[in-house]
Amino acid sequence: MASSTLLWKRALPTTSRIVRMYSTFKPASPLTVHDINQHTIEAKYAVRGSIPIRADELQSLIDSHPTLHGLPFSKIINANIGNPQQLQQKPLTWYRQVLSILQYPELLDEVKFPADVVDRATTLLKHLGSVGAYSPSQGVPYIRNSVAQFISDRDGYDASPENIFLTGGASAAVTYLLQILSAGPNSGFLIPIPQYPLYTATIALNNAKPIGYFLNEDNHWSTDPNQIRQLIKTNKEQGVDIKALVVINPGNPTGSILSEQDIIELIDIAAEHGIVLISDEVYQENIFKGKFLSMKKVLCELKESHPHLYSNVQLASLHSTSKGVSGECGQRGGYMELIGFTQEVKSVVFKLASINLCSVVSGQALMELMINPPKPGQESYEQYHHETSAIHTDLETRASALYESFLEMEDISCNKPMGAMYLFPRLHFTEEHYPLLFKRARDQKQLPDDTYCIELLEHTGICCVPGNGFGQVEGTYHLRTTFLPPGTEWIEKWTAFHKAFIQKYKV
Ligand SMILES: Cc1ncc(COP(=O)(O)O)c(C=O)c1O
Repeated sequence: MASSTLLWKRALPTTSRIVRMYSTFKPASPLTVHDINQHTIEAKYAVRGSIPIRADELQSLIDSHPTLHGLPFSKIINANIGNPQQLQQKPLTWYRQVLSILQYPELLDEVKFPADVVDRATTLLKHLGSVGAYSPSQGVPYIRNSVAQFISDRDGYDASPENIFLTGGASAAVTYLLQILSAGPNSGFLIPIPQYPLYTATIALNNAKPIGYFLNEDNHWSTDPNQIRQLIKTNKEQGVDIKALVVINPGNPTGSILSEQDIIELIDIAAEHGIVLISDEVYQENIFKGKFLSMKKVLCELKESHPHLYSNVQLASLHSTSKGVSGECGQRGGYMELIGFTQEVKSVVFKLASINLCSVVSGQALMELMINPPKPGQESYEQYHHETSAIHTDLETRASALYESFLEMEDISCNKPMGAMYLFPRLHFTEEHYPLLFKRARDQKQLPDDTYCIELLEHTGICCVPGNGFGQVEGTYHLRTTFLPPGTEWIEKWTAFHKAFIQKYKV
């Protein structure tokens, strides 16, 4: 008796109060991946794919065994994602001072802040109440007004707050747009190749069809309007209803900036075919060479000169607090301006925003702080100016240093960075010169750019993303790296790794 009691005690979790004397059913199995929405399985997102996951595992190993991990490096360099504050970029003081008051208004009595910080925080508190309360779904009206003013000042053309939706980063705007435009597998979306994989992933989630148009690597990743027109023709012939043309300017992963002529050609295509333009302009502040021209500005100019051709063009333009010199990726601020859409369609976007209740309210406030920063003469201006200029110069210096290093590396070519946060160098690997690499890749069910990035990670701790995660011309191989990690030591390690890689594989 004593021993059976003991067994019973062991069989039950000690904290459980519930005792089932006998079971009346056979327990069902948990879900397998075949039971869930297959579109969620199909969606891929290389920026946080298998190589970054492996990098996280290695970082955990280092953290748990700081002296005994046995790896040839002591930290992971996350060059796989444009996440500046993960890589020691300091947040701007102006943002954090105002945000801290919004989070805890009592600070106003306890800390002496610059006068413009107090003014802005007080104004924002008046308009949004508490950051802990839901805001109107489209966004706080005061902040939408500010965004409209920012766009008008930037472009020289009016913007209406009615057309502004504050979103949880630009990603949420992409989700809304692709949701309303996807009407089944025959809904086509023209996307640049290479592209930022948010687009292919969201298209897959909506069971729609991605139609890649190739950017021209030999001409600074420019667009080829003839190719896009041809794609529209052939897809229409096959019954595909092309809904939108996605443009990423400045480009991710390419780091290029579109010329005015390219933008005009894209608007022409949209006007002629009634295709919505989605202009992802989250890197508009990250410009090193050339000039950023918003799609909205070019469209307004065209409308002014040729209203009969362009008045029906529908453009959604996106911006974010994650990039630029803000780098506030975790705060999830963004906006989308909808131009030329009917009230009926805008109401559906509004409904989607309502289903989500609202975007993060502190992220909305951050958007206001980004587009409406301290002005010369205000107390925070000097520090703001100093901090933002330093970040900008730093990014430009790092971009050049990495670019120069790629130029020195054997069998690598790279376009000069013009903007954004990335380089997308080409790895000139051919089966003829790298037979062992191609064999190894095939054996491991990889592509040669996967193998390169995996070995780079395992030997140096540098984590970047193979070009095939963004799309590339078949038979070409690339990788995407940010130039955000500080210092040059990691670049030196990369150079040494590359030499060894070439020695190992090249014949
Ligand atoms: C081109 C592009 N669009 C959109 C996003 C999404 O950014 P967020 O949702 O943080 O605004 C990113 C992020 O890297 C991006 O590179």
